[in-house]
Amino acid sequence: MRLVRQARQMAHVAQALRRAGKTVGFVPTMGALHDGHLSLIRAASRQTQVVVVSLFVNPLQFGPTEDYACYPRDLKRDLHLAKAGGCDVAFAPNVSQMYPNDFRTFVEVEGLSDRLEGASRPGHFRGVATVVAKLFSLVQPTIAYFGQKDYQQALIIQRMVKDLGMPVAIRLMPTVREPDGLAMSSRNVSLSPDERRQATVLHRALQLARERIRAGERNPRRVVDVMQDRIRREPAARVDDLAIVQAHTLEPLTTIRGHVAILLAVWIGSTRLIDNLLVDVS
Ligand code: PAJ
Repeated sequence: MRLVRQARQMAHVAQALRRAGKTVGFVPTMGALHDGHLSLIRAASRQTQVVVVSLFVNPLQFGPTEDYACYPRDLKRDLHLAKAGGCDVAFAPNVSQMYPNDFRTFVEVEGLSDRLEGASRPGHFRGVATVVAKLFSLVQPTIAYFGQKDYQQALIIQRMVKDLGMPVAIRLMPTVREPDGLAMSSRNVSLSPDERRQATVLHRALQLARERIRAGERNPRRVVDVMQDRIRREPAARVDDLAIVQAHTLEPLTTIRGHVAILLAVWIGSTRLIDNLLVDVS
């Protein structure tokens, strides 16, 4: 596996791969790799000839009170895991490589970015879209892989690619979970053992919602209430956002029908976790 630290060098490697006619699979990450990331890397390695993984904690997508400074970083461990998963090129630039002092260009996906996660974290998706656009232009991937765990993020990237005519296919991969249902996340390491136990409530509340919908409930308010009640039973848990929306537009629903996404953001102590579930209601 090759390690690339400079943006210009990444662009050169990408150009050479293009000229050689290789298909390139790309997995953008912020490092702190876990099995969720590895499932994307393995999918890329099955479906494309060369796999590029970026490891970059993107300051642009963190708010002033968020966890940028203490976000877990361990490049050596990440390189080892990425290689084992089938990565051929690891791109780990530093901040000045990605954002030199005279950097002035930003990508905003309107509408989709302002709601839900975007409303709780102003500027977050502008940071995500900007870094992903820059990474796409340096890596020139054939296929880029994103996790359903960050469902709104994946929708925003799909929109950006379509609107700007970027020649890359976006694949959405299922959320990888711990055996007790907790969605894998780099932030799970911040939980105390007691919080870790309580954190399973996100998945449990989502499952409860799905059961109610399958049993015929079509009133989103009532499903939200059931979820709220379940989450309230965990002393360390506080709901930040809970929404039942149309899965493609993220528009709120008055009646549950069609492709539905249930999106959840919950504070467990001082750690904010997200999860979601897609349900088809014909
Ligand atoms: P990060 O949180 O490191 O996630 C990188 C990719 O892994 C994302 O596509 C995310 O959805 C996926 N992922 C995370 N946990 C997962 C899980 N449990 N199962 C499946 N996939 C999972 O998302 C980001 O980084 C950044 O916003 C980034 C896109 C890299 C831009 O900075």
